[in-house]
Amino acid sequence: MRRKLSLFFLVTFAVLETAGIAAAENGGFTPEFPHSPNAERINTAYYLILGFTGAIFVLVETALVVFIWKYRSRGRPRTTEGAQVHGNTRLELIWTVIPVVILAAIGIFVFYELPGISDVPKASASDRVNITVEGHQFYWQFDYPNGARSIADLHAPVDKVVYLTIVSPDVNHSWWVPQLGGKTDAIPGRTNHTWFKADRAGTYIGQCAEFCGTFHEAMRARVVVTSAAEFESYVSSQATKELGRSEFQGVCATCHGMQGQGAYGPNLSTNPLLIQASGLTSIVRNGFGTMPPVGEGWSDAQIKALVQYAKSKIYKGAAASGG
Ligand code: CUA
Repeated sequence: MRRKLSLFFLVTFAVLETAGIAAAENGGFTPEFPHSPNAERINTAYYLILGFTGAIFVLVETALVVFIWKYRSRGRPRTTEGAQVHGNTRLELIWTVIPVVILAAIGIFVFYELPGISDVPKASASDRVNITVEGHQFYWQFDYPNGARSIADLHAPVDKVVYLTIVSPDVNHSWWVPQLGGKTDAIPGRTNHTWFKADRAGTYIGQCAEFCGTFHEAMRARVVVTSAAEFESYVSSQATKELGRSEFQGVCATCHGMQGQGAYGPNLSTNPLLIQASGLTSIVRNGFGTMPPVGEGWSDAQIKALVQYAKSKIYKGAAASGG
């Protein structure tokens, strides 16, 4: 009776525990809902494999439980040997052939899906946008065809093929926005490519997927998908002020907080370095102590935008903190 009761509680607990995870709003056990053809194909492959492995799990576990029950000792002494069975050619052939067929089916299906995942769909020049993605410790930087640059937020038009060139000037990172496709590594000295074609406007969340240092976890990305017209107006009107804001929020705030109030890194809002163009330039370009050289390779205009933003929006003076 006691054994039955504890088994009952164990099963109930396992059901409740897994139901919560399965129903979680981010997709739970399953991948996020795809919004690009390549992400869709990755999901299809996932569900095919899940189907096979799920069926195998149920089959094996059922057989296990049935056999434990059917061949239990029934109180016979421990020293008594059970019936000795050996060799069943037909059975052994079946359990060799079935796994081979399953693996072959999965293999064939994956190779069938692969071109649709990795090959960039053909598109006319007007239906395709090329964007360079640069991984940095610890932020993402995006360069658009007309020379515009943004940080942390990648802007892209809906229903167009967005072809990404992925590079890194420092260490290995990995570009990953699950709803828009698989991971693509950003490796120093190497150029990788991936693409997406978002099927609706909206914001998609990504995360650097390769451990790249202390603040790897803070290296998030957002893909902001809008209509083609909104995208054009964003890249053509990206003002210096906007660039300064995105640099501060995408790069500095990762460690120093949104208002520069200090988080992992020291408080900036009371640091007079923020209003000294030369000092700020040097520390941003070269790094200092544990701070990485986040602005290595930035243009003068980019540095200027950051100095302007920091001066007007972040620096509160030493008096404000009373110190
Ligand atoms: Cu960049 Cu992890």
